[in-house]
Amino acid sequence: MKKIFIWLFFVSLAAADIENGFEVYKTHCAGCHSIKMEGSMGRDFNLVSYDRKKEDILRYIIEPNSAFRDFGYSSNAMPKINIKPEDVNDVAEYIDSLQKFKKWMKKS
Ligand code: HEC
Repeated sequence: MKKIFIWLFFVSLAAADIENGFEVYKTHCAGCHSIKMEGSMGRDFNLVSYDRKKEDILRYIIEPNSAFRDFGYSSNAMPKINIKPEDVNDVAEYIDSLQKFKKWMKKS
């Protein structure tokens, strides 16, 4: 697990590809997370964008089964999704970009 984090750290230094992030979203997340507030099993990504930092989004994608308590959930229904580190970074960047105004407010 540590290796993945180190890897991700370097990957996230490179510019993320938001367009690819949207593709990753459609393929791997859209079944459970909406982006137009339609409501779904998981939270709409606008809400996630609104109050989560990118590093927290990265963590949840990598290890939902150990992060869920820190995020305030009492149980974990989201499976670990097997995607490349680049795709993890791109989809996290995509989610982070949804609420642009909030981006600077949640950094502290
Ligand atoms: C099978 C349904 C499912 C899929 C597929 C899924 N999720 Fe989730 N996700 C959930 C559920 C349900 C939660 C609520 C906590 C839990 O059960 O783990 C959640 C929680 C989250 C959270 C924490 C939200 C918050 O602010 O509290 C993030 C971030 C997240 N998911 C990102 C993703 C991303 C990115 C993908 C695609 C790569 C994805 N999820 C795919 C069901 C899913």
